[in-house]
Amino acid sequence: MGFITVCLLGLVLATVLWMIVKRLTSKKLSLPPAPEESLPLLGHLFTFLQRPEVESNDDFYLNKVSAKLGDVYMLNLAGTFAYIVSNQELAKTALTHPNTQNRPSNKSHKRAFGPRARGIILCDGEQWKTIRKFVLELFRHLGVGRARFEDVITAETDRLVVDLNNSADKEPIPDLLHRIQRAIMNIVSGIILGKQFDYDDPAFKDMLHIIESYLRLTGPSGPDSFALLLPFGRGAELRQCMAEFKKLCEDTVKDHTGVTEHGNQSDFVGAFLKEMDQRSDDKDECFNLENLMACCLDMFVAGVDTVASGLTYTIMCITTHPEVQERCYEEIDKMIGRDRKPTFADKDKLPYLQAVISESLRIANVAPFGAPHVAEKDLEMFGYDVPKGTMFIVNYGGIFFNEENYPDPKLFQPERFMEDGAYKKDPDFFPFSVGSRACPGEQLARMELYLFVSRLLQQFRFEVPDGSETPNIHLGTSGGTRSPLPYPVNIVKRS
Ligand code: HEM
Repeated sequence: MGFITVCLLGLVLATVLWMIVKRLTSKKLSLPPAPEESLPLLGHLFTFLQRPEVESNDDFYLNKVSAKLGDVYMLNLAGTFAYIVSNQELAKTALTHPNTQNRPSNKSHKRAFGPRARGIILCDGEQWKTIRKFVLELFRHLGVGRARFEDVITAETDRLVVDLNNSADKEPIPDLLHRIQRAIMNIVSGIILGKQFDYDDPAFKDMLHIIESYLRLTGPSGPDSFALLLPFGRGAELRQCMAEFKKLCEDTVKDHTGVTEHGNQSDFVGAFLKEMDQRSDDKDECFNLENLMACCLDMFVAGVDTVASGLTYTIMCITTHPEVQERCYEEIDKMIGRDRKPTFADKDKLPYLQAVISESLRIANVAPFGAPHVAEKDLEMFGYDVPKGTMFIVNYGGIFFNEENYPDPKLFQPERFMEDGAYKKDPDFFPFSVGSRACPGEQLARMELYLFVSRLLQQFRFEVPDGSETPNIHLGTSGGTRSPLPYPVNIVKRS
């Protein structure tokens, strides 16, 4: 027997012995229940990714499984455990635990923009802390969520009102979501790129298309989508989409060249470039061109479709519930009238409108899985073992449609968020998540929703066209963000 053969045999023997010892000494893990149908190696990955394009809120895959297996169950996504949590209290525990603040690794950003591109949503550790602080400071600097930022949003509500006025009292419009998306995109574009577009500008149309495609292609597990592994189909489309976004960002960076030397920090790109200048090299872990593009993509992805879909669902809920619409009119006419625009300072005078927005966000469930959290070490939670690397996916639909918290959950009832004639804040309703990773855009989103809904209802009546079916408020596209399906609506100017 030659020397190499002896070595190989020795290696095989040692490996087998090591496996036997490990098996005998390792503790048997206590894991949550999992669906029975599971493929070798792939586990439940296929079922998880192969969701229909349109789903009903109360009838989608994660809810169906939780009805059978309970508030916490497990999916095996090709070797990665994912715990699906469908209960308010347990979700809060999973979201706020100090050792679950990590994210799955972000291969798609790195492939598209370079090895240092980690973005915000799927970044973790010190780099995440730095970039999150930077975003929040910029928002503060711009006055986002405060009265100071109101003019930016109001300018865009003005444009939307003009746009809808042109279509009012005519044929029903089929594309309300798209019109609202343009308005919200322009607000985010102002914050990120420092420029607003004409709605007909081809560059603007391209940008909307890129963001929509990205959301459709990445799906529920976030941008670390398994689809990227595919050399064809969804994987190829996703790579193409990110290449287009990269080009768009590069152009914006060129536009900013020189401007930042004068200290222009009035938008994300400018402030980021200035930070890069101050750190004086492109090798910084956080502030480099690759990461700038990844962060821009994240902000657009997180900030456009969520708000646009939430707003369109709100109008849809109001359209299909004329008695609710009537009550909103009474409140707006009494507290604000028709002669001036509603302002953020009026918000507390419109408690019913606030309740309508909250109830619409519940029905809309626009971020049905939030963003996945990952256990950074072995833990115990809910009486189960949680091996390091396990993902936590919150099933917001299961929480928002729970009979115990929301009796008759399929009914649209703004009164759930009212108490003694005042708007009732419900700490157990957290569509923006909780804890240190909670949505940094919450204030911006709430301000946008309030200013758009109040202004649109001051100006217009929304009606289901004669002969059209009443749109189903529970149907939506599946994916990272839930959007309403197109529906025709009559827009009538309020006399
Ligand atoms: C109705 C609108 C919105 C909803 C329902 C929403 C919801 C969420 C949720 C559930 C998360 C995951 C939090 C977690 O991991 O626990 C999140 C994260 C995030 N959202 Fe939002 N969001 C909205 C609008 C916005 C806007 C307008 C922006 C900014 C322009 C934004 C930026 C972000 C970012 C950057 C993250 C990642 C935070 C981090 O990982 O630290 N979102 N959002």
